[in-house]
Amino acid sequence: MEKLKQIYEGKAKKLYETADPDLLIQEFKDDATAFDATKRGTIVNKGVINNMLSEKIFVLLTKKGVPTHFVKRLNDRDMLVKRVEIVPIEVTIRNIVAGGMAKLLGLEEGIVLKEPVLEYHYKEDKLHDPLINDYHIRALNIATEKELDTIKKYSFMVNEALKFFFDSKGLILVDFKLEFGRCKKKIILADEVSPDTCRLWDKTTKEKLDKDRFRRDLGNVEEAYQEVLRRVME
Ligand code: TMP
Repeated sequence: MEKLKQIYEGKAKKLYETADPDLLIQEFKDDATAFDATKRGTIVNKGVINNMLSEKIFVLLTKKGVPTHFVKRLNDRDMLVKRVEIVPIEVTIRNIVAGGMAKLLGLEEGIVLKEPVLEYHYKEDKLHDPLINDYHIRALNIATEKELDTIKKYSFMVNEALKFFFDSKGLILVDFKLEFGRCKKKIILADEVSPDTCRLWDKTTKEKLDKDRFRRDLGNVEEAYQEVLRRVME
């Protein structure tokens, strides 16, 4: 499959049309942004690592019954995916308090939640991806009730599968963000699953091995991504 016209460039990925109107090529870049792209940088080889990690995770999730846009990895940075219409919400699931939830509610990072917390954020950088709930989503026709039920069901399935998977690699899945799309009227998981979109802490040392190292200038950013790749692939 060859890249034809570029149809989208986001903060971390580009999308290209292919000769098949139903398939796109998703290219993973090394660019990193935080705080609605007010902080910008490069994480060397991030694109290659996130492409491999996303492949591994999409394959695992498909086996667990979560349909995804993944078709196949083409090379280091490119992945063939199904064309979807993205539902403009970011679904976050949190197992442990960190980041946005710590800030919103004035909580310490690291509190283990009694049950996972699901949040929806409206995908709009200009508004800083505001927190919304299922009423906003239905009332504003962002998604139907049926679509939302599916999104919620798949999101919790992803949490169960990935908590278990990362635990087996000595990693705690603190929280993560998912994006879904419509493909032939069905909801499927899209975007990527990587240390850009998950918080992963070492099980014993609690060391952060994800994009928080970039967001918070903690150093050893590349090394953290490499370490996640090493553990996931072994
Ligand atoms: P948050 O605590 O900043 O809301 O982030 C929750 C999770 O979502 C965390 O694993 C990082 C991920 N995330 C993204 O993938 N994209 C984003 O734009 C933000 C803010 C967070």
